[in-house]
Amino acid sequence: MLRTLALIIGLCIAVTATSLSQENTHAVSGLDVIAARQASLDMSAITFHSMVDAMKTGREAKSQAYPALALAKWAKTLPRMFPAGTGEDETSVSSQAQPAIWQDHAGFNKVAANYADATARLASLASANDTAAFTSQLDVVNNACNSCHSRYKSGAQGPSRK
Ligand code: HEC
Repeated sequence: MLRTLALIIGLCIAVTATSLSQENTHAVSGLDVIAARQASLDMSAITFHSMVDAMKTGREAKSQAYPALALAKWAKTLPRMFPAGTGEDETSVSSQAQPAIWQDHAGFNKVAANYADATARLASLASANDTAAFTSQLDVVNNACNSCHSRYKSGAQGPSRK
């Protein structure tokens, strides 16, 4: 009886250990995070400019509900895409993430939260189909991009065009 119990406990430990090590094999590396955030930031620029262009061609705000929501979704997760050790010159890949992101983490989180608020409002104006307010909110969002870049990203200001 006791031996069976010991065997069961032993088996449980072995199974847990195996699943933990499997989790580690599938862990996302710092280099993966850099690649993912840069791709998402490039797509943010594409998404943002497509909304600006749509407004210039006289579309209604509600036609932009999907891109606005996508940007808002990404804005919420953006500040967590900067784990320590993934800044400029800290890895083998190129990054424009400035040391200030980690040295002034509260300031970084603040501009990121400001950006998340600006995009959440953009999405709600799109679903309310308030075209005038949506159009001016695009400027607010653009300022939120730039206010983060001016402090926390090296290179050219504003969305870079590579
Ligand atoms: C909270 C800060 C923050 C906000 C807000 C922000 N960015 Fe950035 N952005 C960064 C940082 C930091 C980098 C550098 C990332 C890297 O190279 O690892 C970057 C890089 C970029 C890049 C270059 C990506 C690449 O391939 O190297 C583009 C394009 C970009 N951002 C566009 C935008 C646009 C458009 C917005 C707003 C709609 C925006 N960003 C909002 C911090 C921000």
